[in-house]
Amino acid sequence: MRKPTLQDIFFAAWLVDLTVAAPLQESQSIEDFDWSSITPTEQLEYHQCGDGYKCARLKVPLDWTNASNSSQSVAIAIVTLPATVPNTDPSFGGTILINPGGPSGSGTDMAIELGHYLQGVVDGERHYEILGFDPRGVAFSTPRADCYNGNEIRRTADQVQAAGIPSPDSGSTALNYLYQSHAAVSELCAEAGDDSIFAHMSTASVARDMLEIVDRVNELKHNSSTRANSEEPKLQYLGVSYGTFLGNTFASMFPNRVGRMVIDGVEDPHDYIKGTWEKNLNDFEKVLDHFYQTCFEAGSDCLLKKDSDKNASAIRERIDSFLSSLENSPVPTVYEGRTRLVTSLLVRTMIHDSLYDPINRYDPLSALLASSLTGDHTLLLQNSTVELESACQIKNETYPANYTWANDAGSSILCGDSAFDAGDRNITWARDLVDFLYEQSPTAGEDWTKLPLCCIGWKYKPNFVFRGPFGSSMGKNNTSNAPLLVLSTRYDHATPLANAFAVSKSHAGSTVVVQESWGHTALLTSRSNCTAGIVKEYFATGKLPQEGTVCEQDCVPSIPLKPCPGLPGYA
Ligand SMILES: *[C@@H]1O[C@H](CO)[C@@H](O)[C@H](O)[C@H]1NC(C)=O
Ligand SMILES: *[C@@H]1O[C@H](CO)[C@@H](O)[C@H](O)[C@H]1NC(C)=O
Ligand SMILES: *[C@@H]1O[C@H](CO)[C@@H](O)[C@H](O)[C@H]1NC(C)=O
Ligand SMILES: *[C@@H]1O[C@H](CO)[C@@H](O)[C@H](O)[C@H]1NC(C)=O
Ligand SMILES: *[C@@H]1O[C@H](CO)[C@@H](O)[C@H](O)[C@H]1NC(C)=O
Ligand SMILES: *[C@@H]1O[C@H](CO)[C@@H](O)[C@H](O)[C@H]1NC(C)=O
Ligand SMILES: *[C@@H]1O[C@H](CO)[C@@H](O)[C@H](O)[C@H]1NC(C)=O
Ligand SMILES: *[C@@H]1O[C@H](CO)[C@@H](O)[C@H](O)[C@H]1NC(C)=O
Ligand SMILES: *[C@@H]1O[C@H](CO)[C@@H](O)[C@H](O)[C@H]1NC(C)=O
Ligand SMILES: *[C@@H]1O[C@H](CO)[C@@H](O)[C@H](O)[C@H]1NC(C)=O
Ligand SMILES: *[C@@H]1O[C@H](CO)[C@@H](O)[C@H](O)[C@H]1NC(C)=O
Repeated sequence: MRKPTLQDIFFAAWLVDLTVAAPLQESQSIEDFDWSSITPTEQLEYHQCGDGYKCARLKVPLDWTNASNSSQSVAIAIVTLPATVPNTDPSFGGTILINPGGPSGSGTDMAIELGHYLQGVVDGERHYEILGFDPRGVAFSTPRADCYNGNEIRRTADQVQAAGIPSPDSGSTALNYLYQSHAAVSELCAEAGDDSIFAHMSTASVARDMLEIVDRVNELKHNSSTRANSEEPKLQYLGVSYGTFLGNTFASMFPNRVGRMVIDGVEDPHDYIKGTWEKNLNDFEKVLDHFYQTCFEAGSDCLLKKDSDKNASAIRERIDSFLSSLENSPVPTVYEGRTRLVTSLLVRTMIHDSLYDPINRYDPLSALLASSLTGDHTLLLQNSTVELESACQIKNETYPANYTWANDAGSSILCGDSAFDAGDRNITWARDLVDFLYEQSPTAGEDWTKLPLCCIGWKYKPNFVFRGPFGSSMGKNNTSNAPLLVLSTRYDHATPLANAFAVSKSHAGSTVVVQESWGHTALLTSRSNCTAGIVKEYFATGKLPQEGTVCEQDCVPSIPLKPCPGLPGYA
């Protein structure tokens, strides 16, 4: 449930698309693009926005239950990476919409960071354009779901206040403080009122926005060509993490409008709308054990391993006892002219974050932990911003540079989606939730509680939500309306494989492909020609593999790090 970031930069040839409105500005970089230079429009109007991308702001109703009320609308920010062939080429396969999860992750960012990589995965006999959009309230979409209205001093002050509250397992006083601190933030967010964006950010609204994007993309295509097409345009989609819930919602609401849908790193929809978050960390400790095993097998290449260690458990025990010593007493440090407390949560959050991306991060994680064990916390502190991240788990985003309201946008989506099914989220609920998650994953449970707890006191109940039934029935051999292709790694520490099977069961004809790898999502944790081949064929023809298909990964996590060329990683 994080957004991906990319270290690698991909270059790919692209061709000028004649449907683009504004003249090409050769030297412009998309990172500097001024979104306010585009006026939102109800039809899709693309503008060149640098680095070969085309951008648009699509105007849609704030409230889809009353679209005729035009007094308030939202503008959805869109970044599209053109296909590597012109849209008129016979091998042009159309547009694929993407979502990175979060739930407040930026889809425009995903198109920029991962567009070329994903295009490489899906392109085969057909060539696709990749369209990333920021869900309403998120990143470059307007209005912003920002409880602090852009006041960064107030936001930071609140984050500092929240950071001082001890772990909720240190007693009922700590939990009460935490509880009331979340309730206070919800009060603040409620000030915008029921006509604001906050009340209209349900996943159902975003799914309806996606349908609108599909229709407007189709309109653009058919008005600029002479071909007529009577068939209703269909969604082609690839979503990871929370993006699987978004896809599931779309497929359940508009089953006849699904052309192709790949979901990867699967959320359980029932657990999500109940706001319980009990079906995420099920395999967390298994992935962590794999990290220790990888370290053990690396021998002296892993700085964490000692000659006397008989097996991986010995390494784990050393870290666990380090963590419990921090539990009892955090370590005071001075770093960059200010004081920092090295807490157990700080270290465990670093472990949690690293496991998203085993290939790129096992090795630096082992070095960091080894260093901290000797009392040198420089690496840990360099890589941690955790104490200044608020209440909610969703991280400070680095792009867009000033996307500081990711927490508020994330709360709006997940608290609104669960507003009807979660009960009143009182202190008993909070205690039970904390107890459950700490038990389920001693390492990541505390970090994870921040997601559900940020809904304490949340005031908005969106008037447009989809609470099920989740599922669809698409004919298996229907090339225009194919069943879902469901992907998962064998051991995903944030969305366990079991969810993939459960969701597949409710979508008739869908198939689960298991990729033998560790970490969050198949496509972003490792390269696999096998997985990519299945995805290519699926997009091109709608064909699904046999149930029970398993794919090997082409690279494996190792210490020292062996880079997997071109792999972006999920940070
Ligand atoms: C929707 O909005 C229109 C225009 O503002 C209004 O006339 C109509 O009564 C509204 N319908 C509902 C169901 O609120
Ligand atoms: C139209 O939307 C605005 C903003 O949400 C709301 O205040 C107003 O009551 C709506 N009008 C009608 C007639 O529903
Ligand atoms: C497409 O054509 C229809 C019918 O002529 C027109 O109403 C619509 O505005 C056109 N859309 C675009 C994007 O040009
Ligand atoms: C394929 O699906 C579409 C949309 O659901 C439906 O209209 C069509 O009849 C189906 N075709 C076949 C051959 O099943
Ligand atoms: C690891 O080695 C220790 C000491 O030899 C032994 O007690 C323990 O059972 C081993 N654990 C595993 C999981 O093999
Ligand atoms: C910490 O940050 C450094 C510099 O950005 C990076 O090279 C290293 O991989 C990071 N370590 C971890 C554990 O993420
Ligand atoms: C969030 O990220 C931005 C951009 O990297 C950085 O300038 C800012 O200090 C970060 N804020 C916090 C609270 O860590
Ligand atoms: C981020 O915000 C700061 C302060 O408001 C501003 O100076 C800076 O230009 C902004 N950066 C971007 C990339 O928008
Ligand atoms: C908390 O809420 C539950 C139902 O959601 C209710 O059964 C229980 O009595 C409430 N407890 C307190 C202390 O209010
Ligand atoms: C789908 O196509 C396969 C292979 O052509 C065929 O074996 C199968 O019976 C078809 N299934 C349905 C439901 O038509
Ligand atoms: C994957 O496929 C590419 C091109 O089809 C090929 O160059 C590469 O060797 C393959 N990698 C593996 C591990 O099979």
